[in-house]
Amino acid sequence: MKTIPGKQRTLLLRAARKVMKHAHAPYSHFRVGAALITAKGEVFAGCNVENASYGMTNCAERTAIFTAVAQSGPRLDIRAVAVVNDQDVPCSPCGACRQVIYEFGPEAMVYFQGSKGWKESHITELLPEGFRLK
Ligand code: THU
Repeated sequence: MKTIPGKQRTLLLRAARKVMKHAHAPYSHFRVGAALITAKGEVFAGCNVENASYGMTNCAERTAIFTAVAQSGPRLDIRAVAVVNDQDVPCSPCGACRQVIYEFGPEAMVYFQGSKGWKESHITELLPEGFRLK
C-alpha cells in the first residue's frame, strides 16, 4: 500500500472544498466535491451535477474522474481521492463511484468523512472484489 504524504491529502481536501461550490444540487441541496491526484501528481476535481430526472445525476467523484480522462487521457493512474460535502456529515463514495475509482485506481486511497471524523480507506476495503475485464 502506497502512502500519501499529508501535504497531498491537504491539497486534495482543499481542491475538493473549492469545487464543491460549483455543485448543481437543487433537488437534494447536498453539495459534494471530490478531488483526485494521479501518479504524475496532477490534480483533477469535480462536483455533483443533479438533474430533474434524478437518475441522471452524476456524483462528484465520477465528475472528477471523467474530467481527468477528458483532459489527460485514459491512462489515468489514481493515487488518492478526497470527498467532501457542505453539510459536514458522513459521506463515503457510493457503490457506482467505488467501481469507477477502482477502474483507474485499484490501489487508490480514499479520504472521506465518517461518523467519527475523517476516514482513510484503501479502495479495496470499500470495494472488495471489484470488477475487471481482462
Ligand atoms: N453524491 C455525490 O456526489 N457523491 C457521493 O459520494 C454521495 C452522493 C451526490 C449525489 C446527489 O447529487 C447528492 O449527493 C445526494 O445523493
